[in-house]
Amino acid sequence: MTTQTKTAYITTPIYYVNDKPHIGHAYTTTLCDIWARSMRALGKDVFFLTGTDEHGVKVEKSAQARGISPQELADENAAEFRKVMDLFGLSFDDFIRTTEQRHVQQVQTAVKQLLDSGDVYLGEFEGWYDEGQEEYHTETKAKEMDYKSPISQQPLVRATQTNYFFRLSAYQERLEQLFAENPGFVKPEARYNEVLGRLRGGLQDVPITRTNFEWGIPFPGDEEHVIYVWIDALMNYATGVGMCESPRREKSRYWPAQYHVIGKEILWFHAVIWPAVLMALKLEQPDCIYAHSFWISEGQKMSKSLGNFIDLDQLQNYMDTYGQDALRYFLATQGPAGATDSDFSRSHFHETYTTDLVNTVGNCASRTSAMINKYCDGECPRDSGACAGSEIEWSSFTGEQVGRAIEAMEQFDLAGSIAAAMKIVRQVDTFINETAPFKLAKDPEAATQVADILYRCAEAIRIATCLLESVMPEKVQELRSAWQLGEATNDLRSECTWGRLQPGTKIQKVALFPRLELEEATA
Ligand code: MSP
Repeated sequence: MTTQTKTAYITTPIYYVNDKPHIGHAYTTTLCDIWARSMRALGKDVFFLTGTDEHGVKVEKSAQARGISPQELADENAAEFRKVMDLFGLSFDDFIRTTEQRHVQQVQTAVKQLLDSGDVYLGEFEGWYDEGQEEYHTETKAKEMDYKSPISQQPLVRATQTNYFFRLSAYQERLEQLFAENPGFVKPEARYNEVLGRLRGGLQDVPITRTNFEWGIPFPGDEEHVIYVWIDALMNYATGVGMCESPRREKSRYWPAQYHVIGKEILWFHAVIWPAVLMALKLEQPDCIYAHSFWISEGQKMSKSLGNFIDLDQLQNYMDTYGQDALRYFLATQGPAGATDSDFSRSHFHETYTTDLVNTVGNCASRTSAMINKYCDGECPRDSGACAGSEIEWSSFTGEQVGRAIEAMEQFDLAGSIAAAMKIVRQVDTFINETAPFKLAKDPEAATQVADILYRCAEAIRIATCLLESVMPEKVQELRSAWQLGEATNDLRSECTWGRLQPGTKIQKVALFPRLELEEATA
């Protein structure tokens, strides 16, 4: 993506309504939120889409078990997911639900188009059927399962099903070409290589309808079939901006997405099936499918059977103790954005909070504001431009970090972007220690030097926090009001120009991140 792009479109997976929201959902959505906020700060016209995936046999069964209708179950849990989004202050622009008419109609239109073009056809699927699970398996999968149901241990039976198929095999070459021409199509690189390897192994047509349950979008023209939940779900990225509406509305200007952000377990659907469907629909490809890895919990894989998901209550507890911004910072810097999983542990959280937020960002801001209050009557001093006793050339140093931070953010390297901003803050710390304004202040003749130093500290902190605002919006807002910095504009680049901090500005003391003891935090 280039910085000239006026629009920016980012999506999260749409979440299954038969699950309770947990850290995985909060994580992906938070990453997208940070990116969306950053792009808005850069003046882009952003569309950030999230939502819920509401069809399928699992929802039907869970609803049956509870004696309610699938729609009731979907309504209940979709509301829960929406509540979570608000709780976490996630700035999505739209929340799509796959049971909404706007989605259903567009999916039917798209599927009809695929049927007309011959990309979808009625065919027979012969496979191994798990009667208890009502699920078909391929020969390879059945062999892996030893021809037995992993759930009931009953033997799988050979069975034939009539289904509508998507002609995935016809897109092998074009998909390989798409990958070859766009090495950034799937990130991180390890995931790109993985998908490409499997893609080269050959593609088979995929069944895209089911007849063994009803809770789904009816197949246009053959209502015995419902559209397979994955096809229905993937299409949300297009229906969310009205790409299958005729005539198209203004929202379609956002197409295609810069990032579909997902977890690694659903990469194949996103990086192979979805692009092939887009080719068949003659729609432009997204720039990148970003597949992050998984959070594990206190060293153990999170699973339903272990019941050790970091759930909403726990996340709420972290937010109550450390603040929402601390949680966002932790997720963005310590999370599994790369190719390996990350451990979510209380001790690691606490350590990150203390080292980066209390001792670095908080400490620099509070030291600087305290000294300005003590030595400059609480007003931002003027930088005379004279040598302040350090070699660092602040304007070019911060300029370089600003460039890096913005570029990394555009590339969805959130941790890299934050690291560049934190480098500025750390440099302020070093600068204070080296120049020791608190010592110089004892000598009245060094007043200009003290003023120069403190201006530079405050200005560097201002710039660093502008860069961090998408990650810690509340804390940066707190600093903005304490330092009378005004509201953020949507011109991050100019806001980050050295020298914008006006001498004479009232600087109040700030304590952004309170120090906490681990025991206190655990209690
Ligand atoms: N409904 C499908 C997605 C359809 S998208 C067209 C689905 N939903 S889900 O509710 O299971 O959510 C899966 C997503 O939750 C993952 O892709 C990932 O974004 C997030 N996570 C779930 N568990 C996770 C972890 N343990 N760690 C990090 N994120 C994970 O799949």
